[in-house]
Amino acid sequence: MTSGRSFYITTPIYYPSDLPHIGHGYTTVAVDTLARWHRQAGDDTWMLTGTDEHGQKMLRAAAANNVTPQEWVDKLVTESWFPLLETLDVANDDFIRTTQPRHEERVQQFVQALFDRGYIYAGEYEALYCVGCEEFKPEAEIVDGTGPFEGLKVCAIHSKPLELLQEKNYFFKLSEFQDRLLELYKTEPDFVRPESARNEVVSFVRSGLKDLSISRSAFDWGITVPWDSSHVIYVWVDALLNYATAVGYGNDPEQFARRWPAFHVVGKDILRFHAVIWPAMLMAAGLDVPRGVFAHGWLLVGGEKMSKSKLTGIAPTEITDVFGSDAYRFYFLSAIAFGQDGSFSWEDLSARYQAELANGFGNLASRSVAMIEKYFDGVVPSAGTYAEGDLAIQKIVADAAAAADAAVERFRIDEAIAAIWTIVDALNGYITENEPWALAKDEANRERLGTVLYTAAEGLRALAVLLSPVMPASTEKLWIALGAAESLGRLVDQPLREAGAWGALRPGSTVSALTPLFPRVEQA
Ligand code: MSP
Repeated sequence: MTSGRSFYITTPIYYPSDLPHIGHGYTTVAVDTLARWHRQAGDDTWMLTGTDEHGQKMLRAAAANNVTPQEWVDKLVTESWFPLLETLDVANDDFIRTTQPRHEERVQQFVQALFDRGYIYAGEYEALYCVGCEEFKPEAEIVDGTGPFEGLKVCAIHSKPLELLQEKNYFFKLSEFQDRLLELYKTEPDFVRPESARNEVVSFVRSGLKDLSISRSAFDWGITVPWDSSHVIYVWVDALLNYATAVGYGNDPEQFARRWPAFHVVGKDILRFHAVIWPAMLMAAGLDVPRGVFAHGWLLVGGEKMSKSKLTGIAPTEITDVFGSDAYRFYFLSAIAFGQDGSFSWEDLSARYQAELANGFGNLASRSVAMIEKYFDGVVPSAGTYAEGDLAIQKIVADAAAAADAAVERFRIDEAIAAIWTIVDALNGYITENEPWALAKDEANRERLGTVLYTAAEGLRALAVLLSPVMPASTEKLWIALGAAESLGRLVDQPLREAGAWGALRPGSTVSALTPLFPRVEQA
């Protein structure tokens, strides 16, 4: 299934010093769902995630814990970040760590190339730096401190004091790329999505770009500047390059040509790095810019952006331990318009779990399978002549499948799920209206009963295929219960873009008992 067009998609690489919270989990499951969708549609898919391990933040955290920075990041990545992928059932193709030699060597190669091409020069720098953001802050993001920080300048995002740094730095000539970037946003209107993010980026670049400091000499936890060993490469330049080094930049031209350019999905907090600095770096190196950058919104808890530093952090396991990984994925991806902020609450999560998953999809699956067991000894019946109501279901399935694929093309996972959910709602209504339990009372209705239950089962077949990128575990369970694994093969091999074509499920397949897909939860 790898003959299709290339689809390379990335998450940001996370700072391992923060423990994974539902915000990181949100980005990761969104990217995993998009990747699973494309993979199952036959596109030549590659999903990358990883960790951003250099910089001052990491160095200080390690020092505070009395270990070397490498020991510190090794421990965090092993104990917290790899397990996150299992917790959320993520099928990434690669995981890059910026302390890996494969990355470090090629970052040096890239920076050397920019230097050789004349895009890097040495200069003096004095500015206010936020270690939380690992960034010299622009005027607009510097505010006066309050409380214990009264009289100090603090970062608008972290509310922590900024540090005045003065050092000799190497600079990247970012200012030279203003026109080319504006041209890019104009000729590729989808380069930055959604529209609100695009507008923000365009007006930021229009207001003028300053050259970017790309090295630090005050500490050494980073990748050495190849022509000056007293400097390390600025952590954001190092980090952005992961997207290229992970797919063979600098050592595997074939792989790089096959994968690059990528789609990047990021939180809107780091949009400018991805939509301004990164494409400029690539242009300077003579490489293709990304295929697109999609900025999603923030998860808000109690009205505030969720973060560990503000004590609103919730670990993904707190949710998955109670509701399971599929519910986690479904909830965040369906309840929040992808690209906008969304509020998380336990009440909303459990209400949706109960209404949409347990009573909606789960119950539809259980009762359909149970009726086939009861009325047809567990063998999927064949359909007789289709009536208008049956044909209406077929059309809903076909339309939903097409609409979902179109929504995924636009990165709107929430809209894709909403489209797919029209099938769940329609089938539940269809069963209520057709009352198979009443049909079963009279042998004369045998053919009609078969048509109704085949329609339900075939609708579930389409649902399993369409929802498998979102909820891989429960759809797999349903697939097996439908007896589809034996006649049609593995669920993940079912061509997604053909999911809406009616009649794939074979009559005569044997269903097997289905325990509830979304069991009642105790707590919540
Ligand atoms: N290391 C940098 C990224 C480098 S990419 C070349 C970084 N790391 S981070 O650990 O702070 O992760 C930031 C990302 O985590 C955000 O862009 C977003 O994808 C996700 N989120 C962190 N908090 C979030 C919310 N409260 N809501 C939604 N997403 C959140 O920045």
